[in-house]
Amino acid sequence: MAIERTLSIIKPDAVAKNVIGQIYSRFEGAGLKIVAARMTQLSRAEAEGFYAVHSARPFFKDLVDFMISGPVIIQVLEGENAILKHRDLMGATDPKKADKGTIRADFADSIDANAVHGSDAEETAKVEIAYYFPALNVYSR
Ligand code: TYD
Repeated sequence: MAIERTLSIIKPDAVAKNVIGQIYSRFEGAGLKIVAARMTQLSRAEAEGFYAVHSARPFFKDLVDFMISGPVIIQVLEGENAILKHRDLMGATDPKKADKGTIRADFADSIDANAVHGSDAEETAKVEIAYYFPALNVYSR
């Protein structure tokens, strides 16, 4: 199986709930290595740029407002099949539909405050990693 990298964000609701360590433990327990990380408060422009693909959606403004409402932790995870493995750990977008034991089922309150972000495909992962960690060589794997 391929060693991949994926972009993960612990969103403002989960940072505020003080569950960063619990979420990191799930990454580590699944064999995902944290190879880059930073805590930051996103600017509106950064959040809008990151979610540009959703700019025409009705939830876009609320999503951006939420993402800049407090600090986030952004990390690059690396491991076998990392993109899908991370999505499985996260659970469905809507925590009400997320499988038991997933991060969103356990820590998210609603579809718009849903605790975590994770890249959904190889190409997206490359773009998202380069967006937040331009100095990281995403092609090294
Ligand atoms: P999406 O890429 O569909 O989900 P995921 O984060 O699981 O990849 O949507 C991006 C974010 O947009 C999602 O995490 C929360 C927000 N969102 C809403 O607030 N309402 C919605 O109806 C949808 C689909 C997403």
